[in-house]
Amino acid sequence: MTIDPAAGFRLAATRTGLRLHFFPETASTNDEARDRKYCHGDVVLAENQLAGRGQRGNGWAGGVGENLTFSLVIEPATLPFEKPFLLSEATAVALVETLGDFGIGAAIKWPNDIYVGERKISGVLIENDLMGDRFTKSVVGIGLNVNQRVFDPSLPNPVSMAQVGGRTFDRTDVFGVLLGRLVARLWGFSEGDLDAAALEKRYFSLLYRGGGVFRYRDVAMDERFEARIERVEPSGELTLVRPDGTRKGFFFKEVEFL
Ligand code: BTN
Repeated sequence: MTIDPAAGFRLAATRTGLRLHFFPETASTNDEARDRKYCHGDVVLAENQLAGRGQRGNGWAGGVGENLTFSLVIEPATLPFEKPFLLSEATAVALVETLGDFGIGAAIKWPNDIYVGERKISGVLIENDLMGDRFTKSVVGIGLNVNQRVFDPSLPNPVSMAQVGGRTFDRTDVFGVLLGRLVARLWGFSEGDLDAAALEKRYFSLLYRGGGVFRYRDVAMDERFEARIERVEPSGELTLVRPDGTRKGFFFKEVEFL
């Protein structure tokens, strides 16, 4: 008997009201999902990405058949033009909540990396299409390390659910729960019933280094300093306050966590 590897994933997506497009292999699920033929509610999942893309021009590879690498398409008609970061916040919160459902305590490393302790378990790459000042389509790309136990040594600090939980996880279960959490957090952007203030509060409460003073590097000034996170703006700007009370805002890539 031939087992269709996509069947479990398809069932999980259907239960959440989404449509699964399964690829044994593709370049990048984000690239595939950006094609015009995909619209709100489509999910593109690949077992193997040949050119998976990450933040900062990095790649995303490894764990073929062991992890989850997929892209969810949303048409966020009511997402305010000046607040695109809300999508990142909603996605990151959904990921942390999903990991919590499986007994794994995780946190959000600004802007939207998911960490367990000092190690990265999941990454998010969101790409938006705009028409004038409206978001017409967003592709929410997620890589979640589920059962991978051996990583490329060149990666700085990866970890998987299996390593943290000490057991193998059923990827279709994780996928189903995660899709449910994503729909719960993201669909408000298309239906217009999103409580942005509550989302921002929840995101902040789940931040890695959300409380306390830590070391950072101001990239432009090449300056190391101590500060605490004061807030994250809906634009994505991170405000850090030094012990002497001076504060500065940073966008992605402008500050490093030391
Ligand atoms: C990061 O650098 O942390 C973001 C990684 C995002 C990887 C996911 S895997 C599925 C989707 N397709 C891609 O090419 N990238 C994202």
